[in-house]
Amino acid sequence: MILLVILVFLLFLIAGSVILATLRLSIPPMPSNRMMRAQAGALLRDYGGTGPVTDLGSGWGGFARSLALAFPDRQVRGMELSLVPFFCSRAVCALAGPGNLSFARKNVLKEPLVSGSTYVCYLSTMHMTRLSRKITDEGFTGTIISLVFALHGVQPEVSSEIDDFYRSRIYVYRFD
Ligand SMILES: C[S@@+](CC[C@H](N)C(=O)[O-])C[C@H]1O[C@@H](n2cnc3c(N)ncnc32)[C@H](O)[C@@H]1O
Repeated sequence: MILLVILVFLLFLIAGSVILATLRLSIPPMPSNRMMRAQAGALLRDYGGTGPVTDLGSGWGGFARSLALAFPDRQVRGMELSLVPFFCSRAVCALAGPGNLSFARKNVLKEPLVSGSTYVCYLSTMHMTRLSRKITDEGFTGTIISLVFALHGVQPEVSSEIDDFYRSRIYVYRFD
């Protein structure tokens, strides 16, 4: 009985943490779909250089993981602020690898963008507005591949439609 109470309490704690983070960050840890990931991987191959890749807001870690498996020669890093998804992605990574994948608990809107790097993201309109400002303020040079949401006031080099239910788009931006 005590075990059941502890289990229910833990479930409430976990659900509460996810809900609170969703409210605070104005976005749920909703994973990108298989088609988005496949297309983003193809665009990364064609436009994303050869260096490290960072998933800004990596959620449960599935997108970063799929990239790490598809690009074993590149370091892939996920950045996530929401506690439960972050710990889950880290736990899976510690147990199952791959070795070129890592996760950090960081606020992507506060972390400086590293010029010459490639970033992927699946965020929101609000996040993309702030990211656009950040790119200008920090004079970022490099590549950004964004699932669904476009940057503001910047023309994408590629805008690719996916054959999913929402006809989602993926945008590629290169800054130099
Ligand atoms: C829609 S999910 C995308 C997850 C993953 N990238 C994918 O494609 O499957 C967006 C994630 O961004 C995270 N996020 C939002 N704002 C953030 C911030 N300022 N810093 C770090 N993570 C953030 C959210 O917690 C959420 O897990």
